[in-house]
Amino acid sequence: MSEPTPPNEHAKANLKVLLLEGIADTATDAFKDAGFHAVENRAAGLDEDDLIEALDGVHVLGVRSRSKVTKKVLSKAKSLLSVGCFSVGTNQVALEEARLRGVPVFNAPFSNTRSVAELTIAEIIMLYRRILPRAMAANAGGWHKSAIGSHEVRDKTLGIVGYGNVGSQLAVLAEALNMHVVFFDIADKLRHGSSRSLGSLDELLAVSDVVSLHVPQTPETQGMIGARELSLMKHGAFLINNSRGKVVDIDALRDALVASHLAGAAVDVFPSEPSSSKERFASPLQNLDNVILTPHIGGSTGEAQDRIGQEVARKLVGFLDAGSTHGAVNFPELMLARDRGSLRFVHIHVPAPGVLRRISESFDRAGARIVAQHFHTDGKIGYAVIDAEGVTPALIEDMQRQPSTLRTRIVEPDVVAKPPAAAAPEASEGRAVA
Ligand code: NAI
Repeated sequence: MSEPTPPNEHAKANLKVLLLEGIADTATDAFKDAGFHAVENRAAGLDEDDLIEALDGVHVLGVRSRSKVTKKVLSKAKSLLSVGCFSVGTNQVALEEARLRGVPVFNAPFSNTRSVAELTIAEIIMLYRRILPRAMAANAGGWHKSAIGSHEVRDKTLGIVGYGNVGSQLAVLAEALNMHVVFFDIADKLRHGSSRSLGSLDELLAVSDVVSLHVPQTPETQGMIGARELSLMKHGAFLINNSRGKVVDIDALRDALVASHLAGAAVDVFPSEPSSSKERFASPLQNLDNVILTPHIGGSTGEAQDRIGQEVARKLVGFLDAGSTHGAVNFPELMLARDRGSLRFVHIHVPAPGVLRRISESFDRAGARIVAQHFHTDGKIGYAVIDAEGVTPALIEDMQRQPSTLRTRIVEPDVVAKPPAAAAPEASEGRAVA
């Protein structure tokens, strides 16, 4: 026998999702597959006032980089439960404000790894073959047919700085081209294939024919490649920066290229970048021989966008459907699977002594039976997820009245189990909920 559930403004059928900035259809599909049908996918971004208006009654917002989810937006978005950044970065959201309001924010840190690694491989070959100056000459009517300065990449040494998702993927691709791969990382990393870890950046710079940077932007990596480091690189080597613009001192790089100490470079990220395609781009690296400049497109492929759509939508569905905050960038993380049997009660609160005890006492008083309890705090937000039977409207009201409570939400048991492929009709019957 199923139990009646309290009235639930957050029942699946009531939840509205608004996606902005042309987020890939894979996201809409992921929501719909999970039973969330009120999904609006708009092509344009919204400025602050329009965003505030559009968020009226919306529970989940998806943005890329143009729409800014500011403190003001968050303060007005009363029904907002969660934000998805369909991007690697999350600067477009006032993360701390979202956290203090109990709004977890998710992103897609790894979906474009492969795209960056592939671009880097293409650039290594293009630099070694001096494709850019020759292609530009050919386009302008020139015919620079010569083997001078053209080389294969086989047997050359690639030095990877930052052996994380992109760096290690690049290592695998480069080894398939018979390059020798060395890497330097501040963390201990399991090496792939035959790549070799080196003990210092200086050592890597001294032995590499191509140096490729794949570190995050941190105080330590800011300016990590300056005049001194460039001077340590082999004469005639190449530098590739597809990581973050401030990692390289761009004037020092220009000097090293003008002096022909380096034979070329490929740069996708810059200390200051135009905010839209309407703005002009200026860099000291323009108009140099054998330098490939690209407009921060390392991760910009259709495949990466599709994966980002899926990855972020799945995290949002996990939060809506199970209360899982795994992968949230601003929130205590709980990795939870959907419990199909009992009602799940989500309680977001300001941590204070005795909060958990008071929650348990409220459940006891109401005669509700706690089946499972999950809890995590980051010191500023406490996140409790409770599976229980016999939850009554009075109990919910009691929990909402507690002074430390920021938000509560009920995740109902799955009312309609998804039929397996070719299931018999009776297999799709689920629990009835009042
Ligand atoms: P990741 O976090 O997986 O890997 C970064 C690695 O750098 C980690 O292994 C870390 O231990 C290491 N590291 C950190 N500080 C270091 C230091 N001082 N010296 C040596 N190693 C250090 O990051 P992921 O996903 O591989 O991304 C790498 C970079 O690429 C990031 O800056 C990211 O923002 C950028 N990126 C650029 C894109 C583009 O469109 N051009 C697209 C995607 C990522």
